Amino acid sequence: VAAEKEGHKHFMHKEIHEQPRALVDTVRGRTLLEEGDVALDGLELSADEAQRISRLVIVACGTSWHAGLCGRYMMETLARLPVEVELASEFRYRDPIVDERTLCLAISQSGETADTLAAVKEAKRRGARAVSICNVVGSAIPRECSGTLYTRAGPEIGVASTKAFTTQLACLFLLAVKLGRLRGTLSMEAARSHLSALRQLPAWMEQVVRQEPAVLPVAKRCAQARDVLFLGRGSQYPVALEGALKLKEISYIHAEGYAAGEMKHGPIALVDENLPVIVLATREPAYEKTLGNMEEVRARGGQVYAVVSEGDVHAASLAQVALTVPEAPPLLAPLLSILPLQFLAYHVADLKGTDVDQPRNLAKSVTVE
Ligand code: G6P
Repeated sequence: VAAEKEGHKHFMHKEIHEQPRALVDTVRGRTLLEEGDVALDGLELSADEAQRISRLVIVACGTSWHAGLCGRYMMETLARLPVEVELASEFRYRDPIVDERTLCLAISQSGETADTLAAVKEAKRRGARAVSICNVVGSAIPRECSGTLYTRAGPEIGVASTKAFTTQLACLFLLAVKLGRLRGTLSMEAARSHLSALRQLPAWMEQVVRQEPAVLPVAKRCAQARDVLFLGRGSQYPVALEGALKLKEISYIHAEGYAAGEMKHGPIALVDENLPVIVLATREPAYEKTLGNMEEVRARGGQVYAVVSEGDVHAASLAQVALTVPEAPPLLAPLLSILPLQFLAYHVADLKGTDVDQPRNLAKSVTVE
């Protein structure tokens, strides 16, 4: 097994580093730059069908659910499609409103998660067409769906999902561009520019991966903490949720992800000098508001660490340590800003000496309820 880690101490570390390569593989052959179009091999949609859909219901669990939350912003913005993102374990036991004009999209790394599979069956029973984004060819969920876009991340061994997440985001983006073109909400020019941004991402990811050592001081601090709060807004809100999930899964430190605008409705009561607050403060439409949140935390003695856009001296000045990422369009920014948070969780867990790849009580794929 040591050999398969290719010199990395843990699979999770190897898999974090593999993300630029995984993204290249996921995108390869699928972006048709000249035509401003996308080839979704395995997930064919006709223009008729794309126009007939009245809503998209995304079902997933865990990290895949967080990818779905990011996907909502993509679908709404690019395809002007109403989207609901459902926890599969909730959806399957509700009386959900689903009909023949609903497209159900399941997201699953393993393709074997019992709740997600059951949610797909339930959506189909109610008349929806079901498709999936999945990493394992021929697994149960793709078998139940009429189309699947594979993430091509390669085998993911670490229980805490990393490269599956970022490749799911890339697939969601491809699907959103495709739906936007088919539904006539996205011009060819606009699609071209979105797709070229996507093609730029692996190089940007490389840059962020090279900055791994910058998270060490933050990891040392978080390793001492009892609780850690993650804040983000817009497309960075799901990244805050995912950053908190990564940290609690492998370091066993209690962590919460929150929409920055909701801080005043609860989490602000937790802020004191012992609480590290990790803020996703990259440039995006409401980012000035996020800077305001950083000032509020500082004013209460909290410790602010931030992920900021490269060259944003002002945002950096509001944090004790600022981790920088290249400035990507907001819909794609999560693919970059999650990397420092994956490294953070990894190094906190490594400092604490926990079993990074096999955290207690967790399973890589949950095939029972
Ligand atoms: C388990 C794993 C998580 C994963 C979730 C959903 O809880 O530990 O990493 O996000 O299942 O798995 P799936 O394979 O459906 O994406």
